[in-house]
Amino acid sequence: MLETHILVKNLKSINSFVSNYIFISNKINNFNKTIRIGSDKSISIRSILLASQAVGVSKISNLLESEDVLNTLKAIRSLGIKYYKHNKIYFIEGFGLNSFNIKRNTTINAGNSGTLARLILGMLVKSETKVKLIGDRSLSKRDFSRVIKPLRQFGVNIKSKNNCLPIEILGTKFLRPIVYDENIGSAQVKSCIILSSLNTPGTTVINSRRSRNHTELLLKSLGYPIKIKKINNFDLIKVEGLRQFNSFTYKVPGDISSASFFIVLTLLSKKSQIVIENVNVNQSRIGIIRILNKMGAQIKLKRKKIYNGEEIADIHVKSKMNLKSINCPSELNSSAIDEFLIIFLVAAKAKGISKFKDLGEMNKKESKRLDLAVKFLKLIGIKVDRFKNDINIHGNPNIRLSKKFEMKNFLKDHRIFFLSCITALTLGGVWKIHDKKSANTSFPDFLKILKIIGAKVK
Ligand code: S3P
Repeated sequence: MLETHILVKNLKSINSFVSNYIFISNKINNFNKTIRIGSDKSISIRSILLASQAVGVSKISNLLESEDVLNTLKAIRSLGIKYYKHNKIYFIEGFGLNSFNIKRNTTINAGNSGTLARLILGMLVKSETKVKLIGDRSLSKRDFSRVIKPLRQFGVNIKSKNNCLPIEILGTKFLRPIVYDENIGSAQVKSCIILSSLNTPGTTVINSRRSRNHTELLLKSLGYPIKIKKINNFDLIKVEGLRQFNSFTYKVPGDISSASFFIVLTLLSKKSQIVIENVNVNQSRIGIIRILNKMGAQIKLKRKKIYNGEEIADIHVKSKMNLKSINCPSELNSSAIDEFLIIFLVAAKAKGISKFKDLGEMNKKESKRLDLAVKFLKLIGIKVDRFKNDINIHGNPNIRLSKKFEMKNFLKDHRIFFLSCITALTLGGVWKIHDKKSANTSFPDFLKILKIIGAKVK
């Protein structure tokens, strides 16, 4: 426990002495590197939450030590769960389902994390002590009706103004299983319902538009009675409630969402190649690889293996000059939802008009990413047509930037920061990019790895 305290404190104290912006004024070319990127954020959060409900001490290694994940550790501690870190391994002491020891007036601060906020609500459905959930400015603007609705159907008492944070949740021992149509394709909503169902008697049924399935895979690998039937683009999920499961050992793989910035950096840089080792390549996450390969990239997955039900591989990428536009099938949207920002940069450099449809969910993220993407592309001189949630990007293979750019990122969205850095390094120009601390949300080593590859960042 102590080490985590120190870690959080160090992050804060280091940050307060250094400036919160960077300068990039050189493109990067000619690199050939093998790297490892930050661990998967979705899996890190889920492994902590499920460990807190298991019977016994779970051991999690390679946990992502980013703000969203550290906030998850803090959250379970405030619910009475003990954990400590020893030799880089997190030991989490669980006493089974609903074994929280919650003090009166407990507040959980989910910071910037929609995943933590939505999933933890599902774990509180049976707690008869009121808990308040708050978050940062960006999270407080996000809509929670998508989880409030199913939670109320379970019988949980929820108070919130306009379906936003702060939320007060008061669980009940009189829970009833629900049958729910999850039509958005949101893994956060689906996982919130699955976690609620663990404490609910009977069988909960979710008909869920396909989205990342890490919660299901982890539960399955623990022998939990959860059944999944694939029907077209939907998963019919049935979860039996009230079954205890034992503690587990887990090694978190690399995050494809973090890898995506290095994939695109390599693709758009001259004479370069990269191997990104040990990345989670779960089918529900690799939309970016499918999309970029359709655009002419030759990204390869090698040394594939299965670990705790998840597929892991090394990602091999080489520079590619003649990329072509794409008419992106919207079935791929959910498996690339966090990667569209960086995919749009590839579309900006590809030959022809790329078309993307039904991307309204992008505007429901840490910031309104679809709106921001359109502004960003126009800023770098790319023609974009916007029709509600669809966009057409008029690519320009000869694009070369030379102007000065200053990127302010009002809601401190980490992925907007990463996008700006990769744009500067591949298209040129003189860039002042603000809010470098936002990288700590999901990928604290981002700038360090860029420098290892040879990027000049000041
Ligand atoms: C996540 C699900 C996605 C994704 C987010 C992480 C998760 O959100 O955008 O970054 O870990 O479940 P939605 O479920 O809202 O699509």
